[in-house]
Amino acid sequence: MKRLSLDEIRKEFLNFFEEKDHLVAPSFSLVPKGDKSLLLINAGMAPLKKYFTGAEEPPKRRMATCQKCVRTGDIDNVGKTARHATFFEMLGNFSFGDYFKKEAIKWAWEFMTERLEVSEDKLWVSVYEEDDEAYEIWKKEVGISEDRIVRLGKEDNFWELEVGPSGPCSELYIDRGEQYGCGSEDCKPGCDCDRYVEVWNLVFSQFDKDEKGNYNPLPNPNIDTGMGLERIAAVMQDAANIFEVEPIKTILTKVEEISGINYGKNDKDDMSIRVITDHTRAMTFMVSDGVIPSNEGRGYVLRRLIRRAARHGKLLGIEGNFLTQVVDVVINKWKETYPELKEREVQIKKVIQIEEEKFQETIDQGMNILEEYIKDIKDENKDTLSGEKAFKLYDTYGFPLDLTKEILFESGLKVDEDGFNKEMEEQRERARKARGDIGNEAWSSEGVLKLDENVKTDFDGYENFNLKTKVIELIKEDEIVEELSKDETGIIILEKTPLYAEGGGQVGDKGLIKNSNFVAEVTDTKKGTNDSIFHFVKIKEGTAKKGDIVEAIVDKRNRLNAARNHTATHILHKVLKEVLGEHVNQAGSLVTPQRLRFDFTHFEAIDKETLAEIEDKVNSKIQETLDVNTKETSMKEAKAMGATALFDEKYGDKVRVVSVGDYSIELCGGTHVNNSSQIGLFKIVSEAGIASGVRRIEAITGESLYKDIKETDAQINKLTQLLKTNKNDLINRVQSLNNEVKELVKEIETLKSKLASSKMDDIVNEVKEIEGIKVIAKKIEGMDMNSLRQLGDKIRDKVGSVIVVLGSTHGEKVSFVSMATKDLISKGIHAGNLIREVAKITGGGGGGRPDMAQAGGKDASKIDEALDKVYDLVKKQISNG
Ligand code: ALA
Repeated sequence: MKRLSLDEIRKEFLNFFEEKDHLVAPSFSLVPKGDKSLLLINAGMAPLKKYFTGAEEPPKRRMATCQKCVRTGDIDNVGKTARHATFFEMLGNFSFGDYFKKEAIKWAWEFMTERLEVSEDKLWVSVYEEDDEAYEIWKKEVGISEDRIVRLGKEDNFWELEVGPSGPCSELYIDRGEQYGCGSEDCKPGCDCDRYVEVWNLVFSQFDKDEKGNYNPLPNPNIDTGMGLERIAAVMQDAANIFEVEPIKTILTKVEEISGINYGKNDKDDMSIRVITDHTRAMTFMVSDGVIPSNEGRGYVLRRLIRRAARHGKLLGIEGNFLTQVVDVVINKWKETYPELKEREVQIKKVIQIEEEKFQETIDQGMNILEEYIKDIKDENKDTLSGEKAFKLYDTYGFPLDLTKEILFESGLKVDEDGFNKEMEEQRERARKARGDIGNEAWSSEGVLKLDENVKTDFDGYENFNLKTKVIELIKEDEIVEELSKDETGIIILEKTPLYAEGGGQVGDKGLIKNSNFVAEVTDTKKGTNDSIFHFVKIKEGTAKKGDIVEAIVDKRNRLNAARNHTATHILHKVLKEVLGEHVNQAGSLVTPQRLRFDFTHFEAIDKETLAEIEDKVNSKIQETLDVNTKETSMKEAKAMGATALFDEKYGDKVRVVSVGDYSIELCGGTHVNNSSQIGLFKIVSEAGIASGVRRIEAITGESLYKDIKETDAQINKLTQLLKTNKNDLINRVQSLNNEVKELVKEIETLKSKLASSKMDDIVNEVKEIEGIKVIAKKIEGMDMNSLRQLGDKIRDKVGSVIVVLGSTHGEKVSFVSMATKDLISKGIHAGNLIREVAKITGGGGGGRPDMAQAGGKDASKIDEALDKVYDLVKKQISNG
């Protein structure tokens, strides 16, 4: 057996199948395109489903790839044993209705025995128990002895995903020798031990499994194969497991170096080292494909991986953030095969660093709380953490559920997951209500499902705003109908249409559909089922009938406004890259006739000057009157033209390239102006962060900007009138008004304090003596608590040894303060107790220290009565003291 590196095996495999006339394609992104059944690509065939089902024509009937894959089904197990990994590379050769079992089997054998030089006596195979055909091919055509062909059941030898292509399979196993075995007599392929390693799965993909679980036979049987690169490399390198395979081992060594802990000494540490090694590889590749940590979908998977790795770092005693050091190793070791790692290096590290920092900030707090929870559960002799508490950890301290589960598991406890999900659902519900959206999809899938596959619409609206066409289907309340009459709302499907259906961030067109019998207003246009386009309409006049020949008219003004914003978005994207750096990538966009919104990767707020620079640059490009051109071409040529490579690259498809002069070149299906000057003007209205590492700019152009200018102008005119000045002098006028106000405020303060001291003199004159103690109890109008206290302080300081009680009404409020000098406290005076009694009379309450207290009251008419009471109360306090 040859000793081959990971890179060598990959190359050998792809070369082999290229020689067998396969088209070798680069790995697709980990983010699936147009496949809602999947969060992340988890097999070589996943991005090729459309070719298997015949929904799309493949660029070639034979293909081979080395596909990046992520599987997170049993994330908890990753690290526990050395067998599981979340990220791996899958080698695969595929036939779309071309060759079938015989070639697939023979080539697999040839590759194994001749290219990898695995000796024949080490190879075993399995077939699906009912698949005699495969059995015979192995036996007769390949010549394997029958005792090394095993028949296995559906569980082992039938391959399927939730939905999509599936079928029986045949697997190749390598016997690693007795030293890896369990010693059992009937140890053979299928056994759980490490002796027979399943390396290559050949799927005879004959079915298309639908959402209901039906296996629908495919018109042409396909071949889908998958060989885990790391696993075959482990065998070829005689490594104990994938973590011993180079260059994965280099990552592991880096983790050892950072933590100062050697691998192989202690099971617990080993597990943490493996978790970090594996997860760092997965997170690096995920971020390079545009995934950003979040609380939903694949963003949440990424968040779990980063946080789990960070926590295992803590378990190893690593202080502070460390993941980006490990990321460096991944990038360096895989960058030749996956250049996107190097291209997006800055972004990858920044995203991971921010997420790790965020988690580090709360991890200790969260851990303390969780430890308390654990203690409580144990004290109560229970074994389950409530969903509510698990949710709190998730919501406040960013503990993904898996992490909480894992930590509890270490103490032999579990989580009430249903309870957690319930809390989660309730929070979603609250968020949904807060947003006020009621999920108003205008149609349900029911009616749509009934649409015939042939119902499709050609979009012909890049140049045209007006087309003659035919009504091919009408839908009303999920039902297909023959007609729609006056005042009814529904959906019209046309044979072809000039109206743009929502897509690529641009909203759908509005317009009219009409003929001499009816007029329908189109309120929105969206992509429908199959390849149809739905026009959401309200019938204004007459009755629309299936089969009608009609005129479809785009609301041109609306469309042009959207086009202005769309082209401006492309220019903005390029300007951002120039001004902020190449790490800027589109993370989302919304183009409406009113405004544009552009989300992009960047890691800090943009200061005012830079924002102004961005705005200026976009406007210069507009003024350069750059022609906007579109071109349909292949992905390859688009790349050669330097088109901004988006995350959703499709291989071999026709793509549409939109260029603005030679300044911006992007793949885009949207509608644009013909020349940048048609945008008119561009203005940024806001800039903000929306997620870690993602910023959002909102801007307006053309008509919206004109309206905005007019509004601003009207406001300025109004201001000049109010301030009795003209536009040029407006700022001076406001500044001098401000100064005037400041002066006035100062003057008021001086007057107030003068007034207060004259009041004070009056008050001091009214002092009474109770048993040799000076007491002042006085009502003053219009003072709040604060001023009352200041006045009290002054009186006390002036008189020396005294009890002061002041009451006041201020607006609706009644306030009291009371103060006693220290010498009187020793005689039994307590300002707090005093004020409590006083305030009670006005229906209020309060209290405080012996030397100083305050209280509120309710009934202002009783202030005098309350203050009169002070003297008696003082007497009482003295006699008690
Ligand atoms: N799709 C098959 C697998 O992933 C080859 O095992």
